Amino acid sequence: MIRGGRPLKGKIEISGAKNSALPCLAATLLTSETVTLHNVPYVKDLITQRRLLEDLGATVLTPELRTHKVSAKNIETFEAPYELVKTMRASVLALGPLLARFGQAKVSLPGGCAIGTRPIDLHLKAFEQLGASVSLESGDVVARAPNGRLKGADVSFEKVTVTGTENVMMAAVLAKGKTTIYNAAREPEIEDLADLLNKMGARIKGAGTETIEIKGVESLGGAEHTIIPDRIETGTFIVAAAITGGELEIKSCQPEHLAAVIEKLREVGVEIEELNQSTLLVKCCEKGLQAKNVTTEPHPKFPTDMQAQYMSLMTQAEGDSTITETIFENRFMHASELIRLGANISFSGTTAIVRGKTRLMGAPVQASDLRASASLVLAALCAEDETLIDRVYHIDRGYEMIVKKLRSVGAEIERITDNLAMSAEEN
Ligand code: UD1
Repeated sequence: MIRGGRPLKGKIEISGAKNSALPCLAATLLTSETVTLHNVPYVKDLITQRRLLEDLGATVLTPELRTHKVSAKNIETFEAPYELVKTMRASVLALGPLLARFGQAKVSLPGGCAIGTRPIDLHLKAFEQLGASVSLESGDVVARAPNGRLKGADVSFEKVTVTGTENVMMAAVLAKGKTTIYNAAREPEIEDLADLLNKMGARIKGAGTETIEIKGVESLGGAEHTIIPDRIETGTFIVAAAITGGELEIKSCQPEHLAAVIEKLREVGVEIEELNQSTLLVKCCEKGLQAKNVTTEPHPKFPTDMQAQYMSLMTQAEGDSTITETIFENRFMHASELIRLGANISFSGTTAIVRGKTRLMGAPVQASDLRASASLVLAALCAEDETLIDRVYHIDRGYEMIVKKLRSVGAEIERITDNLAMSAEEN
């Protein structure tokens, strides 16, 4: 339940990146030695990823809430079951490391999800290029490396895929010989994963560019690594400051990871000042917000994971804006809920047209996925009266203690039922 209309003021601390912590946790499967990860966000997806590691036989200690010490010395099974994969698609990230270290892996094939069909065909094709045999058995992807070890190869992705690039990178680090990934994803999370893998003894060059070279090694060892800040959480809080006409100091972030978002939001009229390398000061300019068009594209362009939040902001900008989604085919589920709050949004294929500025009025709405939840929270923060967001548990997958963080900067927000929320949220 959110009572909107209060400008947010104060300081917000950004958590570790969910989309980096997920592959980094999967990477711990590549070694029998202990890997320690710091700044792992306390969110539902990471709890699920931890459970997956434990189900496989790994031991995960958390000496502190955000530190995971993983030992995958005694892996007993090579299988990620449907129960886990259906709640979190990123479980497919177990495929690459299991195949690399044990020469076999079985992961349930993820179905479609709220934002599209989301196949993993490109991951599987790449594993085949590395010499694996891949088959589908009763809904499970079964992959095997002949003689137990993959072989380095040239892998050229026909479409840029983030987890696909990560999976292949993890598969190739222990392969015999050299692998080159062409048309690789360039997200900061790919670089972060490569940093961890190199600390473990891998030989990866070019992560963060579109060509990645990996020289396979015989084995990997332990390492200690700190996860990068979450750029999407950072972007979400920038929008929160702007949409409420507030002023937020956003700390522990990495602004260069969201350069395209910052640039677009400045064009719109949001004042974003870099106080230092990891702190942003965000204010809404006096003149108000001006509508600007946006198209989602792979990094370093504007991320699809900020599209829904940007749409909420555009309902408060003067003029018309078009928002074109090029990554996922069904990622406008939040739009119909924003319309319930009073937004004026129409569609033309994969483009949404937002006509602003509209007065938003609180109403009951329903969240369909993680980023849709965030966009509804943002819209509700500037809507008059009360907004009740149902199925908001999706937000717990990727935003650490969002209710607590928003309350600390003056939002009137309350969790009504939190059967899926985590106990720390209450503290
Ligand atoms: C990752 C992020 C997600 C983000 C997305 C795009 C994680 C855990 N998740 O998801 O938050 O929204 O990148 O930035 O990091 N595709 C295929 N075949 C494949 C793989 C992908 O057709 O084998 C298509 C997808 O359907 C989609 C596009 O390629 O249209 C990009 O998807 P991809 O980059 O793979 O997204 P994810 O890695 O699943």
